[in-house]
Formats: sequence, C-alpha cells, structure tokens
Amino acid sequence: MDRYVVFGNPVGHSKSPAIHRLFAEQTGQTMDYSARLAPLDGFTDDARAFFQEGLGANVTLPFKEDAYRLCDVLTPRAQRAGAVNMLTRQANGSIRGDNTDGVGLVRDLMNNAGVVLKGKRILLLGAGGAVRGVVEPILEQQPVSLVIANRTVDKAELLAQIFAGLGPVAASGFDWLEEPVDIIINATSASLAGDLPPISSSLIQPGVTVCYDMMYSKEPTPFCRWASEHGAALALDGFGMLVEQAAEAFTYWRGVNPDSKAVLQTLRQEMAAG
Ligand code: ATR
Repeated sequence: MDRYVVFGNPVGHSKSPAIHRLFAEQTGQTMDYSARLAPLDGFTDDARAFFQEGLGANVTLPFKEDAYRLCDVLTPRAQRAGAVNMLTRQANGSIRGDNTDGVGLVRDLMNNAGVVLKGKRILLLGAGGAVRGVVEPILEQQPVSLVIANRTVDKAELLAQIFAGLGPVAASGFDWLEEPVDIIINATSASLAGDLPPISSSLIQPGVTVCYDMMYSKEPTPFCRWASEHGAALALDGFGMLVEQAAEAFTYWRGVNPDSKAVLQTLRQEMAAG
C-alpha cells in the first residue's frame, strides 16, 4: 500500500487524514494516509525512518522549518519560504520539499470565495513561518500593495526585503495602520491563544473589506468575530486553505485532481454537525 502521513505535534486534531481519504475515495486511489506524532526533538529521525518505505508526508506545526532543513531538493517557492509543508520521496531516494500553503490560501480566496486579488490593497498580519509561505503566491496575483505588519517590526522588515524583488511589498507596525484596505489576512498565532492582533477597526471598510484568518476552529475565530462585528464583506477562516494545500499535494503525489470544493463542503458539514 502506498503510504503517506502528516507529521505534527500535536497532530491528533489534524483534518489531513480525513481530507486525503475523501480525495482518494473521490478519485479511486488506493493509498493509506495517517497522522504521525513526532517528538518535539525527534522529527528528523522519524521522517527519515518513515521514508524508508513511505512515499510522501505533509508537515504541520512545529516542524516546517525542520522539514526544510531535511530536504535534499527544494522547490523555488519552498526555498524562498524557508519552510516546507510537503515532503516527497523521489525515485532515486532523495527527499523533495515543497511549500503548498501559499497556493492553498490563494486558491481558497479566489476559487472558493470568489475574491479577486489583482489590483487590491492587501494587509498581512504576522511575520512568522505562516507568512513566509504565502507572500510569493499573493504577489503573483499582482495586488497593488502588500503590507506585512507585525508586532516585532524588524521581522516584517526582513520579510519585505526578502520578497522586494517580486512585487510591491512593504513592512509596518500594527499601530501605524489606519486607512481601510481591501483584504486583511491574519497569519499571527494570536487566535491560538484566543487573542487578536491589536489593529484598528478603521482598516475595515464595511461591506468591502474581506477578512481571512489562516486559523480555523469549529466556532468563528476571534479575528473572524472581530471582522464580522465591524462589517467586513466576508470573514473567512483557514479551513479552505488546509483543503486546498492538501489538494495540491494530492495532485502531485497521485497525478489526479481531486474536487477540493466538494470535499470542503462535506467536511464543513461534518464539522458543523460535530
Ligand atoms: P508561525 O509559524 O505560525 O507563523 P511563528 O513563527 O511563531 O509561528 O510566528 C507567530 C506570529 O504571530 C509572529 O508574527 C508573532 O509576532 P512576533 O513576531 O512579534 O512574535 C505573531 N503573534 C503571536 N501572538 C501574537 C499576539 N498575541 N498579537 C500579535 N501578534 C502575535
């Protein structure tokens, strides 16, 4: 049986096995995909052991940088992101690393939510690993501006420098921002602690601004609640991004395109039903 896993710590809550199972059913693929808890200091050893026989792995928190260091070959987008969420054993035994998070975000926004990025003013909150993976695919869509705002401004400035050659990207602190923007994407880990990044509600133009939280949970995240309360045109969570990054990996591994929108609908209904 062709074997795939998702590595994480914790990983018990991961929806990736359910997503890949539905993709496999849909496309008639025979494969095994399971969740694998790696010790915090033991990811590299576990991943190497898995690839003695396994074909591919997704990687979630907190191992995306470890995965980046493990790879023999990196795609250009993974190289620039400095983080890897997808590993593949190649025919010669070497391990290829890619980062499909950014494509997942952009596809969810564009294909599932119908949001246009071209010509838009986009604000990205945070400057950690989650942001590094999404800057390049966002810039590919030619927004008029992309501002990376972070609590620690130095980190936002460093990212703006790294990606400066790819489009109109700038750095900012949270409290410098007042003017409304078209799209706000929360990539801070604040939601994990039930927190909000300290940004002004004047950034939302009621009925126009689209807000997107890369986190998701059964209940609306604090950022999505804040967005709805201030009249955002849409308040979206990151579940669609998870499904779309999985679809990108599945297509690469199996050579067939799953219907990600149908799987997203099925899983959202399952989640709502508890
Ligand atoms: P990830 O890989 O998920 O991006 P990370 O690299 O630890 O995780 O980055 C977490 C991001 O969330 C950072 O941008 C962090 O801000 P700092 O760089 O200033 O630490 C941001 N963050 C975490 N908690 C936050 C909070 N309560 N308010 C605002 N930003 C927060």
